[in-house]
Parts: sequence; structure tokens; C-alpha cells
Amino acid sequence: MSIVYLNGDFMPIEEAKISPLDRGFLFGDGIYEVIPAYDGKTVGLAPHMQRMFNGMAAIEIKMEKTLAEWQTLIQSIIEKNGGGNLGIYIQVSRGTDVKRYHAYPENVEPTIFMMTMPIKPAVEADASTAKGFSVGVTQDMRWKRCHIKSTALLGNVIHFQEGYRDGNDEILLYNEENKLTEASSSNAFIVKDGVVITPVLDNQILPGITRNILLDVLKKDGSIPFEERDVTMDEVFAADEVWVTSSSKELAPVTQVDGKQIGDGKVGKVWEAAFKLYTAHKFDY
Ligand SMILES: Cc1ncc(COP(=O)(O)O)c(C=O)c1O
Repeated sequence: MSIVYLNGDFMPIEEAKISPLDRGFLFGDGIYEVIPAYDGKTVGLAPHMQRMFNGMAAIEIKMEKTLAEWQTLIQSIIEKNGGGNLGIYIQVSRGTDVKRYHAYPENVEPTIFMMTMPIKPAVEADASTAKGFSVGVTQDMRWKRCHIKSTALLGNVIHFQEGYRDGNDEILLYNEENKLTEASSSNAFIVKDGVVITPVLDNQILPGITRNILLDVLKKDGSIPFEERDVTMDEVFAADEVWVTSSSKELAPVTQVDGKQIGDGKVGKVWEAAFKLYTAHKFDY
């Protein structure tokens, strides 16, 4: 049975209840995180929580809980759900008002909800056995605050569904200037002539923790060059490799974009080398 946390108490998921006047339910007025844990060990707990604090500050949700208190809660929920490979989902909504009204209410307590979701074991960093993703492409029609990890995910959900409907694992998004932003639930990378390239962070892109850990690992190691810069969709189709990254996928190699083969159509060697480095160092974060 799945044990969740709601507003101070752990309980079986069936017992967790919130009011329909919760602003998370009515407006998607909340911030969330997903932190991966393998064999009960988290990856990027502190940067994930820092992103959550930044998101709450951006939308003026005030909460006193410290990083240490969150760490204790996260550790408890992992233990209560038997450890193993889990995504720890954390959601903080603005709370429950007495009416439906757009303005931020005064003096409401944020609603805190946590649950765990099983995630796949980390795959081997082996290009000969890894499965290549196929992804769609579409114009990014989401809002202009994609750097905030808001629970209001309808824009992302619609995009994901567009790809999923066509049998794709993900969908890459491009802006009005035909430049790659990210994917519906991942960050995006290309590789050209041995150089790893990913779009620069701005309001069109979620600052992915997997992305940031990977870039930090690459920087410290120094054997694989990388650039953060604009990437056109022409560059995506002409790339030697394409990857998408997220907490639940880690680094997923993409071998098909919009039905077209990328590079030689096989999972790439730069992916293998970068993913080996990521795998070796991910628990340092
Ligand atoms: C839109 C979007 N971009 C990027 C990511 C990757 O972020 P992270 O690596 O922190 O999981 C996600 C993850 O859910 C996402 O939803």
C-alpha cells in the first residue's frame, strides 16, 4: 500500500483527502518537484528543493520548512514505502480558501502533499543495449513562465499527448523563432561533431536538475566539450545525436525525431560516455 504525506501526517493514499476549494485543484496554483531515488538513495535532493523554494518565492507561497526538515520528510516517505527505485513527488499548493477568487488569499496555510511513484531502475550506459526514443516535434504553445515548476501543467500535458498519440516517447518543442526550447517533460540536448549542445536557460525552459547535474559533471570531467546556446530545429535534424533528460528518464537517447532518423539511427557513443559519467557521479548531488 502506498503511504503518502498530507499536511503533517503520513497515511495510506486512500485516506488522503483535500478540499475542492484547494487552489491547487481550482487553479493549478502550486509548485511541485519529483526527486528520483535509486535503492533508496536520492539524486539531487538539495538542488531539487532549492528549485522548489525558488518556485514558491516566485508565486509568493510562504513556508517556513527548512531544507533539513524536508530531508527528514523525504527520508521518512522513502522508508515507509519500502525504499527501492522511487520518484518522490512533492506538491505545495497555496492552500484552501473559503471561496473561489483569483487574488492570493491572506492567511491560508499551504497544502503539502508527498507521494512516491515507482521508477524504472537506471539503465546501463551501454549504446549497444539502450533503447532509442522516438520523439515528435511541435511549436511550444505553453505559457511564458516555463522556468517555474508549476502544477498547472495542462500546456505540457497537451503537448505530451500530441507526441504520445503518434506513438512517440516525448515531443520536442520549438519557439516562434524555430529554436528548440525543451520537451514536454524533459530538457533537450543535441550532439554535433563531438560537442554536446543544449539551449541556454530562460523563461521558456525548466531548469532541469538532471540537465544541470549533467552539465556540472561534464564540466568537472572535461573530456566532453559542451555549449549552452540557441539550437535551431535544422540543427536538431542534422545532429549526430539527440538526448532528452529528466529525473525519471535520466539521459534518454533519441534516435528518431518526427519520423526521421538521427545520425546513423543508433544510440550514440557520446551519449554512452556522458551517461557513464553521469551514472558515476549522480549520487554526489
Ligand atoms: C517541462 C520539463 N522540462 C524539463 C524537465 C526535467 O527536469 P528534471 O531534470 O529536474 O526532472 C521536466 C521534468 O519533469 C519537465 O517537466
